[in-house]
Order: sequence, then C-alpha cells, then structure tokens
Amino acid sequence: MSDQDEALANAAREAATRSYSPYSNYAVGAALRFSDGSVVTGTNIENASYGLALCAETVAVSKAMADGMRGGLEAVAVVGPADKGNGAPITPCGRCRQVLKELAQLGGTDPEILCVGNDEVRKLRLSRLLPDAFGPAALD
Ligand code: THU
Repeated sequence: MSDQDEALANAAREAATRSYSPYSNYAVGAALRFSDGSVVTGTNIENASYGLALCAETVAVSKAMADGMRGGLEAVAVVGPADKGNGAPITPCGRCRQVLKELAQLGGTDPEILCVGNDEVRKLRLSRLLPDAFGPAALD
C-alpha cells in the first residue's frame, strides 16, 4: 500500500474505535479521501430499534456532504472488527455502495475502495462493486 493509502486505512481504524454498536458489537470504520487531500471519517451508529443502524460509510458520506463536499472522491477505506470473520476484509453493504456512488458521480470519479483486513487489503473500484448502477441520469 502507498503511504497515502496506509494513512487512509489508519484513519478508518481510528474511526472504528468510536463505533456505537452495542447491539451487534461489530465496529466498522470508514475513511474517504478527496482530491484536495482531505479525509472524512465515519463509524457505524446503531439504535435500540435495530433496523435503524447507520453504516460507517453512510455516516462518512453524510458528514462530508453536510460539510459541502461534492465529488472529488478518490478513495475509501473500510475496516471491520479484527476478531470477526477471521479478520478478512469486508466490503461495503449494498446500500452504502449506492450512497458512495451518489457522491462519486458528482465529480465523475470511480473511487478505489480499500477493504482492509488483518493481513490483506482488497482494492476494488466502486464500479466493480456496483456495476450498472442507478444514477441521476435515469431521472432526466
Ligand atoms: N456495517 C457497516 O457499518 N458497514 C458495512 O459495510 C457493513 C455493516 C455495520 C452495520 C451494523 O452496525 C454492523 O456493521 C453489523 O451489521
């Protein structure tokens, strides 16, 4: 991994320490890197009404967009718990793929998604994770 990607993975790991996930005990961290070098993080936030859980990636995109970011999304790091699923890398859930796509398409980028596991990092383009995506062009 490049130093830049390593830093993004570390930002996601740090965000995961702030997870509010008392129901699943499954802490996830996400970090978004933009073309201006800025990094925005998110972590999963659960609710006693279980189905209302917010994923780390969706929280990160929401934070970034609330701060005015529109496009320029270059890379995303996602990290799950080191002690679950054999520490294998996790990929964003389907809803988060669509949420990431909305932000990415504003700047016409196809970000690399760094799926960070204990011993392995999978680097997958968003277009690979969400081929033939629904987007705003369909609404014209
Ligand atoms: N979760 C994420 O934050 N991101 C993902 O990509 C997969 C799942 C969260 C949702 C829930 O709080 C917990 O992980 C277990 O599903």
